[in-house]
Amino acid sequence: MPSISPRGASLPASPIRKLAGAADRARAAGRTVFQLNIGQPDVASPQEFWDAVRGYQGDHLAYAHSAGLMELREKAAEVYQRRGIDVGPQHIQVTTSGSEALQMIMVGAMNPGDEIIVPEPMYANYIGFSAITDVNVVPLTTRIEDNFRLPSSEAFAERIGPRTKAILICNPGNPTGTIFDDQQLEELRALALKHDLYLIGDEVYRDFNYTDKPVKSVLQLEGMEQHAVMVDSASKRYSLCGARVGFLVTKNEALLDAALRYAQARLSSPTLEQIGLIGALGAPDSYTEATREEYRARRDTLVRRLRAMPGVLCPDIEGAFYATVRLPVEDADAFCLWILEEFSHNNATVQMAPASGFYRTPGLGRDEVRIAYVLNNNDLNQAMDCLEAALLAYPGRKS
Ligand SMILES: Cc1ncc(COP(=O)(O)O)c(C=O)c1O
Repeated sequence: MPSISPRGASLPASPIRKLAGAADRARAAGRTVFQLNIGQPDVASPQEFWDAVRGYQGDHLAYAHSAGLMELREKAAEVYQRRGIDVGPQHIQVTTSGSEALQMIMVGAMNPGDEIIVPEPMYANYIGFSAITDVNVVPLTTRIEDNFRLPSSEAFAERIGPRTKAILICNPGNPTGTIFDDQQLEELRALALKHDLYLIGDEVYRDFNYTDKPVKSVLQLEGMEQHAVMVDSASKRYSLCGARVGFLVTKNEALLDAALRYAQARLSSPTLEQIGLIGALGAPDSYTEATREEYRARRDTLVRRLRAMPGVLCPDIEGAFYATVRLPVEDADAFCLWILEEFSHNNATVQMAPASGFYRTPGLGRDEVRIAYVLNNNDLNQAMDCLEAALLAYPGRKS
């Protein structure tokens, strides 16, 4: 039998989908599984998306230009401009989702063995993409006791070495919901310029901001034309996870050119979904505002319920739609499996993502879970009833 490569063997399994088998078995046994493990929004996509897709007139579906449909890039630039991000269509590469944009950046900007500094806990697939591209993720640990407060610029500076190529921030953050303030961004800007590093802003949750300060884009930092790269996606903003369309945005022409050549090799992002996204980008601001208020209400419910559970530590959550939470258990992996396999409350159970997979440093996050609040308030309350009862019943509960 031919062997697989060491690289193939090193690819990590997604912690988000880790317990899928146990959840399937719970469903097969007739229990409702409240899915809090994956950032799969349930809010309706904008009507403008469906209208644009249904309005497609062709009799066959052609490849789109590898850089993306020009009309989509123009529309995206217009939307960015309205939000104070000064870019044109020539700065936008349409990608087959934010995931592809991240891989394009790692391939286009980094050599195998180069390093990228990322605060942890981090979006777990950063670790997966780095394994694909042989880039080393250097974690910078943030702690639940400090509300996952973001590291100081000195802490970032200490991690910079001869192979460091980039700092990657997720803003607002998955899985912690923290938001970088202007001063922190200014400090990162200074570091990136001083050490000639890329500053990559994964801004796919930009619209999910529950504070009264705007989320600043890395593209709004002065003098960063060659250093700032933004990753964006239709998945969360418009509940279009299955469309697989996103953007890589930068003024760095060499990186854009590398991204385009990558894009040429994979020919095209989905054409019909790009057409749909042109429609979605034209949705009124009221769509975004209503979606944000819906998630804010869910956030409030989640925080209130978790903080009322003895032994649970729920930090402040400023944005995105996740909470990383400490439970009164030794091993959250074991608890997340137990609740699916052995526990039910009103014939329901809960699927969560153990947080250990969101840390790069081994051993961290063992008593934490990530909860995605992507259920309506009623279901979320039922899921919290279930979690509360499970924590009281769990034999491995810490006293
Ligand atoms: C922080 C972050 N970045 C990027 C992505 C990738 O999104 P997509 O590939 O659906 O655009 C996700 C998805 O959950 C995410 O949470």
